[in-house]
Amino acid sequence: LLATLSSQDLQGRHVLVTAGPTREPLDPARYLSNRSSGRMGYALARVARRRGARVTLVSGPVSLDPPPGVEVVPVMTARDMRAAVREHRDQADIIIMAAAVADFRPVGCADRKIKKSRAPDTIALSENPDILKELGRERRPEQVLVGFAAESHDHEAEGRRKLATKNLDLICVNDILGEKTGFDVDTNQVLLIDWQGQETLPLLSKEETAVRILDRIRELLP
Ligand code: CTP
Ligand code: CA
Repeated sequence: LLATLSSQDLQGRHVLVTAGPTREPLDPARYLSNRSSGRMGYALARVARRRGARVTLVSGPVSLDPPPGVEVVPVMTARDMRAAVREHRDQADIIIMAAAVADFRPVGCADRKIKKSRAPDTIALSENPDILKELGRERRPEQVLVGFAAESHDHEAEGRRKLATKNLDLICVNDILGEKTGFDVDTNQVLLIDWQGQETLPLLSKEETAVRILDRIRELLP
């Protein structure tokens, strides 16, 4: 009931959210990936929709139900995610990159399963495109661009560095080592940094964290 009564302050806005990990294949049976349940991104998509936005959710492989009323675009690799984001970014007023994009991918994907008896000593990797950095380089000034940062150390300094180098309006810094803020939990405590200042949110559910992040984003809208 509370949810249906909540304000429609994002009505008329289009929000593009990415969520979950990407998966970079090594052979037909194996892949390189990141730890990510997708819960934070899905909560953002769900809450934005509830507040009246049109929402596109570009999602890596996760085991979550699609949020009601949200257009879900499933992707596998970072390069798939990049293509899907580029396809939808021009219509978006707000872009939130909550996905845990794999920074590297195996150079090639073997077409047969690599047998144990032929185990390679090393796996050659190439760097994936930085989707968010590209968005920051090519953005329209009135578009609000939001990143996440997953950090084990130097949270504030790393957050500030990424805010600047990726040309963002807001960055949400996650502590990946915290017992209640890390992976596979329903709670989170994020540090929000923008060009006005910073704020550490209390320990909240991911749903409530999404509400607070969208409150902040709404203040940044032109
Ligand atoms: N990101 C992205 N494309 C990548 C890597 C990251 O779009 N290839 C986005 C993430 O979705 C996140 C932000 O960039 O919103 C920061 O991701 P993070 O992994 O914390 O930072 P990196 O820039 O990848 O640096 P590092 O992993 O070395 O800390
Ligand atoms: Ca990274």
